[in-house]
Amino acid sequence: MTIERTRTILKDLERTLLRFMRKHKITHEEYRRATDILVATVKAGEESLLYDVFFEAEATDIANIGRQGGVEAVEGPFYLPDAPKLEAPYVLPQRSDEADDVLFLRGCVMSADGTPLAGVELDMWQADAAGHYSNIHPNMPEWNLRARFHSGSDGTFEVRTIVPPPYEIPKGGPTGAVLSALGRHFFRPAHLHLKIRHPEYSELTSQLYFEGGDYLDSDVANAVREGLVTPLVRQDDPKELAARGRQKPYFEVRYDFMLVPLHAGDVRRRA
Ligand code: DHB
Ligand code: FE
Repeated sequence: MTIERTRTILKDLERTLLRFMRKHKITHEEYRRATDILVATVKAGEESLLYDVFFEAEATDIANIGRQGGVEAVEGPFYLPDAPKLEAPYVLPQRSDEADDVLFLRGCVMSADGTPLAGVELDMWQADAAGHYSNIHPNMPEWNLRARFHSGSDGTFEVRTIVPPPYEIPKGGPTGAVLSALGRHFFRPAHLHLKIRHPEYSELTSQLYFEGGDYLDSDVANAVREGLVTPLVRQDDPKELAARGRQKPYFEVRYDFMLVPLHAGDVRRRA
């Protein structure tokens, strides 16, 4: 971001907000309420949540305009770098009795022209059955349901995890108060988060949702997009169960990720 762009954007933001205040004849008390809310979100550890709920999806929609490759999704407020690296066969770190159904996520990472990409890092994070993210919510094992793993020599990957439930964002703090004032609910549809990385390709932040799930049409973060909603397939074939050493039916999701070479991404950004 150049200083010229920073200046252009800040000037327009200032002008836009001043016009907005004049239009609504914002009182001093109302103005102070607004700054108090922003301060309160920081004190409550919600500084990112409040903005992400309202604005992050717009930034990803802008990023997706004219984009080749996979659909970019919101990162959300709960990504953490440096998650543990897994050895194959990949299983996201979890409690020995992690609740909820077993899910196998598998697919292929490829270049926009369909060439499979080996050695791509997949950095995955998700909520547990209670809708909690590790290293964010208290009383959870460190790095639970967060890890990094790689695509194989043929570009494919498979990881075992659990099917997350629809997720209620923290509602007891200032973000919840703003949503309550608007008469909105606090739910996001069930989802998996992934970042896909390869040194020669632009990083893809993705998020996968499940067909037929609740809140797909009323996501509090308004972040569900076509191309990110996948079938959640129940597997109860005894042969398949035996092959994977599972005693109970499990679920499968297949999804292929497409990356754009770095230089192509640069061209798009300049266009
Ligand atoms: C948001 C996104 C998430 O993935 C999440 O778990 C919580 C909030 C958001 O965009 O606000
Ligand atoms: Fe999330």
